[in-house]
Amino acid sequence: MNCRSDFAILTDSPDGTAYLDSAATSLTPDCVLEKVNRYYRYYNANIHRGIHNWAEKATVEYEAVRPIVGDFIQMGTTTVKDCEIVFSSGTTHSINLVANSFCADWDSDDQVIISEAEHHANIVPWQQLRDRSGVKLQVVFLDEKGQIDLGHLEDLLKRGTRRSLVATSILPNATGILQDWQQIGQLSKMYDATVLFDGAQSVPRIQTDVSVCDFLVFSGHKIYGPTGVGVLYARQGLLDDAPPYMSGGDMIKTVNFAETTFNIMPWRYEAGTQNIAGVIGLGRAIQWVQEQGIDNITAHEAMISDYAQEALKSVDRVSVFFPDSSKLGLIVFAVDNAQSSDVATLLNAQQVAVRSGYLCAEPILRNRLGRGVIRASFGCYTTTEEIDRLITALQKSLQTL
Ligand code: ALA
Repeated sequence: MNCRSDFAILTDSPDGTAYLDSAATSLTPDCVLEKVNRYYRYYNANIHRGIHNWAEKATVEYEAVRPIVGDFIQMGTTTVKDCEIVFSSGTTHSINLVANSFCADWDSDDQVIISEAEHHANIVPWQQLRDRSGVKLQVVFLDEKGQIDLGHLEDLLKRGTRRSLVATSILPNATGILQDWQQIGQLSKMYDATVLFDGAQSVPRIQTDVSVCDFLVFSGHKIYGPTGVGVLYARQGLLDDAPPYMSGGDMIKTVNFAETTFNIMPWRYEAGTQNIAGVIGLGRAIQWVQEQGIDNITAHEAMISDYAQEALKSVDRVSVFFPDSSKLGLIVFAVDNAQSSDVATLLNAQQVAVRSGYLCAEPILRNRLGRGVIRASFGCYTTTEEIDRLITALQKSLQTL
C-alpha cells in the first residue's frame, strides 16, 4: 500500500523508528489530526446542550459519526441504525458497559462463555460479574490451529440452563489468528445465545460486520483514530431498558430529587461530556480507512504478516508462536534463553519498536507457552523494509544475548 505520506509521524519523524506496535495503538493520519484540530480551533463547544452556533456545529459533527460507523460495520441485509451506536472510551469501556448494564440481572442460572485467547478486557469484567452475581464463567479452548474449538463451544452452549452470552475476539491480540467468527456467531445463535464480538484488532484489518452478533466493540486508537474513544454496537432493543452503566448529565430525560428518568438509546449510555474531538476524529479515521479500501488493508497486512513469519523462522534461536498461514496483523515470537523484555530493549536501541511481555493476554501465554513473548504488529503503512530492519536488529541483538 502507498499510504505512508499520509502520516507526518512517518515522513517527518527525526529518529526513523520502525514502528511495529500497531496492535497496541495504530498511528494517526494527518487528515484525522486536522479534523480534531479544526474542532478545537473553530468550534470547540459542548454537544447537545447549547443553542449557539459552535454548539450546534459540534453536535452535528459528533452525531454525523454514528452513520459513518453504522455504514462501516453493516453488511448485506443488516442495516445499522444510529440508535445502535454508543460512543465509549474504548473497547474496555464497551465490554464493561455490557457486563454491567445488559447483564445487570444475570445470576447463577446464566452463563458467559469466553475463549482462552481473550485479552484481559474480555476476561476481567466477566470475572467481576461472576463474583458479584454468581453468573457461570466458562472458557472455550482453542484447537491445534488456534481456532476456537466449535465442538467445545457447542458443549458449553448445550449445558446452559437459561441465558448465555458468548464473548470472543475476532482476531486475538496474542495469536493474530483470525477466528471463524461467522461460524461462532451462527452456532451461538442456534442456542439462542447473545453474541459479543471484540473487534479491537479485526475492525481495522478486515471487513467486520454485525450480521451474526448482537454486540460489537472496538477502539478508535487501533483504527487510525484518536485515543480515548471507542464504539459499542448494540442490536436494537438489547439496551433500551437496561440500567445505565454510568449516570449524570445528558443521559437523563428528567431529574428531580426524588427520581430520574433516563434518556433513550444511545444517549442513555453517554453520561457526561463525551470525548467530542475523539468521536469526530474517529469518524474521519473510518472514512480514511474506507478511502484506502479495507480489502486492500487486509491484503497488505496478510502479505506483511507472511513475510515477517517467514523471515523470523530463519533466525537462529527464535521460535515463532502460533504459526499459521492465515496470520493477520501480528507475529509473536521469543528468543531461546533470553527475556523478552531484554530483546525488546535491544531492538528499541536500534529504533525498532515492538511490544513484549504478556500482551494483556496473560492466561493464554502462560497456559500455552509458559512465558512472555515479543510481538511485532503491523498497520497498513508497514513495509517489508521495516521487517528487514527487525530481522537485522534481532540478529545483532542475539550477539549480546
Ligand atoms: N490491546 C493492546 C495490545 O494488544 C494494548 O497491545
